Amino acid sequence: MGTLTNKRILLGVTGGIAAYKSADAVRRLREAGAEVRVIMTAGATEFITALTLQAVSGHPVYQHMFDTGAEAGDVQGRTSAAGGRMPRAAMEHIDLARWADIVLVAPASANFLARLAQGRADDLLTTVCLATEVPVAVAPAMNQQMWSNAATQSNLAMLKKNGISIFGPAEGSQACGEVGPGRMLEPADLVKLVSDLFTTGELDGLTMIVTAGPTWETIDPVRGLTNRSSGKMGYAVAEAAVEAGARVILISGPTSLPDPARVQTIRVESAQEMYDAVHAHVRATNIFIGVAAVADYRPAQKAGNKIKKTDETMTLELTRNPDILASVAALKPAPFTVGFAAETEDLEQQARQKLKNKNLDLVAANRVGPGLGFGTDESSLLLVEHETVTELPIQPKTKLARALIHHIAARYRAKKFATVHVLRRP
Ligand code: C5P
Repeated sequence: MGTLTNKRILLGVTGGIAAYKSADAVRRLREAGAEVRVIMTAGATEFITALTLQAVSGHPVYQHMFDTGAEAGDVQGRTSAAGGRMPRAAMEHIDLARWADIVLVAPASANFLARLAQGRADDLLTTVCLATEVPVAVAPAMNQQMWSNAATQSNLAMLKKNGISIFGPAEGSQACGEVGPGRMLEPADLVKLVSDLFTTGELDGLTMIVTAGPTWETIDPVRGLTNRSSGKMGYAVAEAAVEAGARVILISGPTSLPDPARVQTIRVESAQEMYDAVHAHVRATNIFIGVAAVADYRPAQKAGNKIKKTDETMTLELTRNPDILASVAALKPAPFTVGFAAETEDLEQQARQKLKNKNLDLVAANRVGPGLGFGTDESSLLLVEHETVTELPIQPKTKLARALIHHIAARYRAKKFATVHVLRRP
């Protein structure tokens, strides 16, 4: 089972006695590392209070379509701080739909399943389910007769056809005193099923190196040259690759981020150290992704003692650092090699030049500048390849990383297949 670190789970709670288990589900999802926001339908409030779910989730609970005030600002505030967009009153169904990595409705009542199957948008929860692009899963909970009813079963068939995951239900004794299918799965089972949804298996059996963060080039014992890279994108790429089944080695410059779970993290400071760590591991690697913002130059000399101020001006002589990415792409055989290009202008053209000059398979280009790229939680990418250009629109870096890994996995397979094909041709 994977973990849910940094996953954003939107939990919908509908009207059923099993709603009392939703509080436990929130707690367990959070324990697994997820961030949880809750939407309650009107029916759910008959069974559990919003206050309880607010207390366990740590966030206000969403209940109505056109709420104004603090609730709307909660999700939007994150987007605004990260992406620099203006808050939009009464647009929280869209913001919630975009915020989530997954929507889980637990418990899902027979009535809710019917409304979802029909594509209704008559309350906040159904509207979010319609508006979201992310996976939607439902955990049905109802009386066994209601579960077996032909109407419920045809609604379920429709939901499955529409790509919605159905978790459960379990069989057993029910709150109404009857015995049969219709009990909601236990919260621990729901956590496992949710985390399995993130595990794609696209990179099963492959090894990947990701470089991330800035480098630190020492001037003297207290000073150095560095840049604004936070490491967030590289770490998100490493996590997404693990979810896709890869064995991942993350070689990171200095960041304030914790080591991601299930990733072998090697901490380095300078570009030279990063180069050495990469080349110590790259031979057994299938895919290399250089996300690090590596310093192009380092001071020609490291002063042993703190440099004192003397003259009005001082000159610092710099010397070129090795290009890690180009050195990996030049290996024979080279792994599938992906570079990043952080640019302030001429994005596609600059990326295409890097693709050719460094002999890469793909360049992921992003615009940087005030409020864009470095240090933010959201970003967009232009994926430049020899024949194609693909745009991944602005979204949280965690989602963007998953989309990038999905793209790379497909390209890696296509390249491998093409190579095998050429080798086999008489
Ligand atoms: O040439 P430029 O530095 O703009 O290219 C950026 C890409 O090259 C990034 O993927 C970065 O990780 C990588 N790079 C590197 N070693 C360097 C400089 C950049 O691996 N010395």
